[in-house]
Amino acid sequence: MRDTLTAPPARTRVPLRHLTGPHAIDRALIEQLLARAAGFEKGTESGAGPLQGRLLATVFYEPSTRTRFSFEAAMHRLGGQVLSAENATRASSAAKGESLEDAIQVISGYVDGIVLRHPEVGAAERAAHAAQVPVISAGDGPGHHPTQALLDLYTIKKELGRLDHLRVGLAGDLRHGRTVRSLALLLSRFSGNQLVLIAPPGLGMREDVLGSLGQVGQVVEETADFTGAIPRLDVLYQTRIQAERFASPQEYERYRGIYVVTAEVLGRLPEHAILMHPLPRVAEIDPVVDADPRAAYFRQARNGLWVRMAVLDWAMAR
Ligand code: NCD
Repeated sequence: MRDTLTAPPARTRVPLRHLTGPHAIDRALIEQLLARAAGFEKGTESGAGPLQGRLLATVFYEPSTRTRFSFEAAMHRLGGQVLSAENATRASSAAKGESLEDAIQVISGYVDGIVLRHPEVGAAERAAHAAQVPVISAGDGPGHHPTQALLDLYTIKKELGRLDHLRVGLAGDLRHGRTVRSLALLLSRFSGNQLVLIAPPGLGMREDVLGSLGQVGQVVEETADFTGAIPRLDVLYQTRIQAERFASPQEYERYRGIYVVTAEVLGRLPEHAILMHPLPRVAEIDPVVDADPRAAYFRQARNGLWVRMAVLDWAMAR
């Protein structure tokens, strides 16, 4: 096995394993990736460094802490190496007007895989068409965030023991929140789940996702009553109001602080249930609830490491 990066990236004719959105992830793939992630977490699968000698580019045109660090940590832990553009809008040739397609075509000549975060919906799909190596979406604007949804499923399975027959409340900015859009679709791949979509008027789940849920007969309830919805949930998945997606600061102000998980609100959540959040939180979960055993969000963030190891291994291993 190569342990240096002196050889150029390999080019093969087999179809590339892109992960550009939830449409690319069926139930069998979910189960395969979560099982592999569990193996990485237990330490039974990473010994041989499956991505030794391989190079990943993380290209981020939007801010990130967890997603970029966990992908990069995952790549290093698999024995591979990383090139990083963490502020690609200003620090790459995008600042000179280069198109995403051109940038990706060039970068894919240097590396064996690309993780991309971009502000435009559909950017990962466009990049996949331009690339000669696998492209993994790390979020495309208010579109989707498929690897976050996978780590959310991993967390639910680990915390509650199953991915079916659950009542899951998705709360907050469902219109712009890419994590909840992807998670709703992946939860609908399992039987007996009920989705409770909790959003204020104007921030409800968009028709594209509602339509896909309808097509597979997914049970969906929509409500604006945050505290009223909580007592019958197995999972409360709280999200940030996505300030950066609003046309004006005034419009954001209309929604800021609309749903907040305080100690009193958490008191309404069943004892067996969990509270999740993709993070970063701003003010929508009071830090006093962090000590409650049901507060799963920091455990959830850590799970990103195992799940991203599984995703990189699936996409990039030869
Ligand atoms: C989320 C994102 O970027 O969509 N963060 C993350 O990846 N964990 C959620 C958010 O920014 O609110």
